[in-house]
Amino acid sequence: MTDINALKTEITSEIEAARTPAALDDVRVTVLGKKGRITALMKTLGGMDPEERKTVGAALNVLKDEIAELIKSQEKALKKQALDERLATETLDVTLSTRPERSGKIHPISQTMEELVGIFGAMGFQVAEGPDIEDDWHNFTALNFPPGHPAREMQDTFFLPEDLSEEGERAKKLLRTHTSAVQIRHMQEHEPPYKIVCFGRTYRSDYDMTHTPMFHQMEGLYIDKNVTMAHLKGCLTDFVRSYFKLDDLPVRFRPSFFPFVEPGAEVDIGYIKKPDGGIKLGKAPDGEEQKWMEILGAGMVHPNVLKNCGVDPDEYQGFAFGMGIERLTMLKYGIPDLRTFFECDTRWLAHYGFDPLDRPNNAMR
Ligand code: DAH
Repeated sequence: MTDINALKTEITSEIEAARTPAALDDVRVTVLGKKGRITALMKTLGGMDPEERKTVGAALNVLKDEIAELIKSQEKALKKQALDERLATETLDVTLSTRPERSGKIHPISQTMEELVGIFGAMGFQVAEGPDIEDDWHNFTALNFPPGHPAREMQDTFFLPEDLSEEGERAKKLLRTHTSAVQIRHMQEHEPPYKIVCFGRTYRSDYDMTHTPMFHQMEGLYIDKNVTMAHLKGCLTDFVRSYFKLDDLPVRFRPSFFPFVEPGAEVDIGYIKKPDGGIKLGKAPDGEEQKWMEILGAGMVHPNVLKNCGVDPDEYQGFAFGMGIERLTMLKYGIPDLRTFFECDTRWLAHYGFDPLDRPNNAMR
């Protein structure tokens, strides 16, 4: 028994002297391992007489448990000490600026389309869609374009090879030149009344600072039994003032011609020229010249167009309007060159793009 007590004292001091996890593990192996000291003593039990074996065996078991417990608590103490040392030496400079993280931006065209959905959605318009590849009938004929109209010529429009599975004007495929074709498709497929807006890519054979072969348009259509020119004026005046966030933006309706409307109008908004040559939307102060710029086309849908879609013009009437989305965007955000919209330059996007978390209709979602 005195041997066992002496052994315990010895092992305890060895454990306390172990200052690293590796040293502690060495002690554990020399004491409790297969060839360890306590293990060796256990093996001697076989040669003892039963009485002695009982007392020594019990004492050895107690010793084994106590030593295992001591090793465990020393291990804990070493871990805590290591952590304390790290905490004392390592510092974190929370004033350092973060590393720049690349984040995506919303393209200005997408941003404007969302703004328009918000404005027209609030007025009760629903979003309709149509194909980019159209045929001559939907793009021109149904919209009352006369046969020799220049837009039907090769140099203005991108024509595709004829689709031999269809006949006549429907076999003549082209990239739509305006989103007005969606009016036709929507009226053919649905029963009146109609109150829709449509967004999409449109194509024309043009390229300069204000024209690209592909651009975006928005089309609107409102047909019911008692929709008048007064509704057209109210709706579009509210729209431009809301889009440009200018309650007193001057709006002018000027007679114009589009084959698919009668009467037709172009809508102008007022601006003034700044001394630096730039422009500022809004009413001209007294003594300054009020300038006007065209922003969209509109009119009362031509009875022929309604007839072409199977809608009775004696029962239904209403208005349509169309506009270029790039133009609206360039004006609102001061982007000077249309071509830059489609050059996929991420520096341009980083400058003119929008934060994905700051979408126009977030509050409505
Ligand atoms: N489709 C015309 C264009 O591309 C725009 C337009 C004008 C649409 C008058 C309309 C409208 O619906 O009534 O220039």
